[in-house]
Amino acid sequence: MAKQWLVFVATTNILVLLATLVSAANASMVTFVFGDSLAEVGNNNHLQYSLARSDYPWYGIDFSGKQATGRFTNGRTIGDILSEKLGVSSPPPYLSLSQNDDAILNGVNFASGGAGILNETGLYFIQRLTFDDQINYFKKTKERIRAKIGDAAANKLCNEAMYFIGIGSNDYVNNYLQPFLADGQQYTHEEFVEFLTSTLEQQFMRLYQLGARKILYHGLGPLGCIPSQRVKSKTGQCLKRVNDWVMEFNSKVQILIKSLNKRLPSAQFMFADTYPAVLDLIINPTTYGFKISNTSCCNVDTSIGGLCLPNSKLCNNRKDYVFWDAFHPSDAANQVLAEKLFNSLASASAAHTPAPAPAPKPH
Ligand SMILES: *[C@@H]1O[C@H](CO)[C@@H](O)[C@H](O)[C@H]1NC(C)=O
Ligand SMILES: *[C@@H]1O[C@H](CO)[C@@H](O)[C@H](O)[C@H]1NC(C)=O
Repeated sequence: MAKQWLVFVATTNILVLLATLVSAANASMVTFVFGDSLAEVGNNNHLQYSLARSDYPWYGIDFSGKQATGRFTNGRTIGDILSEKLGVSSPPPYLSLSQNDDAILNGVNFASGGAGILNETGLYFIQRLTFDDQINYFKKTKERIRAKIGDAAANKLCNEAMYFIGIGSNDYVNNYLQPFLADGQQYTHEEFVEFLTSTLEQQFMRLYQLGARKILYHGLGPLGCIPSQRVKSKTGQCLKRVNDWVMEFNSKVQILIKSLNKRLPSAQFMFADTYPAVLDLIINPTTYGFKISNTSCCNVDTSIGGLCLPNSKLCNNRKDYVFWDAFHPSDAANQVLAEKLFNSLASASAAHTPAPAPAPKPH
């Protein structure tokens, strides 16, 4: 009976979160975004020595104004598209805000290209905001919010806000999978995944202590199939070993999130499993109107570097390609992925919200 009840409680939390998300088509939803280049909207433009940047052509060529903004794609990120669908504006980069900016009351994006769960991840980019840095900046943001609206209102705002987190890809691509870095030599994958998830647990707990209750963590995609990994295979295939590792990481994070939801009062953490949708898009590109998913539009498939540079020769039709550069999906692919994610959240919540949840049966 106890087990049944816990399952029920965990499910209810997730449904409440889904309902919040999907019914949040009101401009009052505050969102805080944490993550790496898949979610970044321009923090690294403000880091003078960072090598993980995208504030030059051809990035942004399909963004409004055709300008490079620091997004690592030709157009919008998945987060931009989800924000559009929720009717809220995509929050601005933390480092673009002035000390006393009122914009913080509507949400902030802390994501930074090259960042990982671990401090040492992405070291060779010289500067990036690690997940710990991002959480420190969130703490500062909360202090500024408190200075503006007072303690009680600041706590309420932080409790009710949505937290989108997409981090962990670089702990593989720009750390564990790089043969010249220490972590890949030092740890077996079992040990490494334990290190990652125990670090992530501390980070989730810190966010919770700072008031975060509604967290949506985006699981990792099939990293073995991104162009920068395929080039390591003689035949250009997906690296199965890498995909197996990522799936193991994802399942450990799912277990962690379930356990945090049980342990932390009113925590509504959720795992968004993006892996199957991304894999399907890569394996069956034509189903979604794409032609090519095994190389990048920018034709920059290398395992280090791999960004689209001003001297790159672009593909003829950017909508034919799932990948923009060696790591990041194109705007067109982000559109498909954001729609899939949104629809799965909407249908999960619609399927459960109309009828009141039944009381758990004792047995
Ligand atoms: C990163 O470094 C900071 C400061 O040195 C330290 O407090 C923190 O625990 C480290 N975090 C990780 C994830 O290693
Ligand atoms: C991508 O797949 C196509 C069709 O199977 C193949 O002809 C091409 O060589 C592949 N490209 C790369 C970079 O592996």
